[in-house]
Amino acid sequence: MDFVSALKDVAIKDLQELGERVEQSISEDKFIYDACAPLLSGGKRLRPVLFLLCSRSKGICPNEKTMPLATALELIHTASLVHDDILDNAKKRRGVETINSRYGAQISVLVGDYLFAKAFQLVAENDYGNEVAAVLSKLVKNLCTGEIMQDRSLFTVPTMSEYYERINLKTAIFLSSCCRLGGIVAGLNQKEIDGLAFYGGSLGLAFQIVDDLLDFFGDEKITGKILGGDLKSGVVTLPVIRALQVSEKSKILREIITRKKLTDSDISAAIEIVKNTDAMEYCKMRADGHIDSARINLPFLIKTSVALALEQIADFVVDRSW
Ligand code: FPP
Ligand code: MG
Repeated sequence: MDFVSALKDVAIKDLQELGERVEQSISEDKFIYDACAPLLSGGKRLRPVLFLLCSRSKGICPNEKTMPLATALELIHTASLVHDDILDNAKKRRGVETINSRYGAQISVLVGDYLFAKAFQLVAENDYGNEVAAVLSKLVKNLCTGEIMQDRSLFTVPTMSEYYERINLKTAIFLSSCCRLGGIVAGLNQKEIDGLAFYGGSLGLAFQIVDDLLDFFGDEKITGKILGGDLKSGVVTLPVIRALQVSEKSKILREIITRKKLTDSDISAAIEIVKNTDAMEYCKMRADGHIDSARINLPFLIKTSVALALEQIADFVVDRSW
């Protein structure tokens, strides 16, 4: 299913306004605009869309109240990707050359910081209050902890619980926070806010598992990223963890992925070994399990159109090819 049609009319008009606001947010500085516009015009906008949908849980929530924070969420996410592409030495993102590849690491650090600062300017100028600021700071802190954890264990095989801890910190908490913020802005009660946050967290686990799967089984033209990127940068993910459990070539696989410098033929060999196992079915099964618990935990008393859109997003997350 196509992501935009999954949103039906619940957030479709907002997506256009969001696009304009995101573009506007980088237009003060010509260098920033030229560097970031191609990157910011792509992407799924999953985080702000989750926030916007959840902010409508009980009905209309004025755009003046939601749009600055929705824009800030997209900017924080993009800032983290700009920094992530330095860490991963990635060449392509959202179908375009990464800022790191085009301008180098020094400029990329500053561009990421600029986007990050712009996000917090939008939040500060729109009186969202301490609760929102606390959710945002915790989510960024967790993003950083997740990335540090990942960086410190490159070219090693994590246990299942280490893998889950990492994807929770770097992805699930972000999606969960977007839903939580939507609930806070909409003035929901604590139980409903926690229900939305649980939905977002489970969705986030499934999202990252599918992301990790696409690194092996995706189509570069559709994902906009280069296949085998995780392996090359030493990030060992669920498809590999599974293949190591079941493949008759697990010894060779382990030996390849723990080499500090992988050649293109090492990467092809590792991908081939993973593809010859049930890693894809296994990862899909796990992602489906998280999606089921996301759905089950949606609070009862939210608007039907919002609940339907959130369910359709859940379907998109497991079936997506980008
Ligand atoms: C993509 O993951 C990256 C992240 C989920 C988070 C990156 C976070 C940081 C670098 C911390 C810095 C944060 C800020 C706000 C400046 P991935 O590498 O698994 O996915 P990919 O395949 O899309 O690169
Ligand atoms: Mg990356």
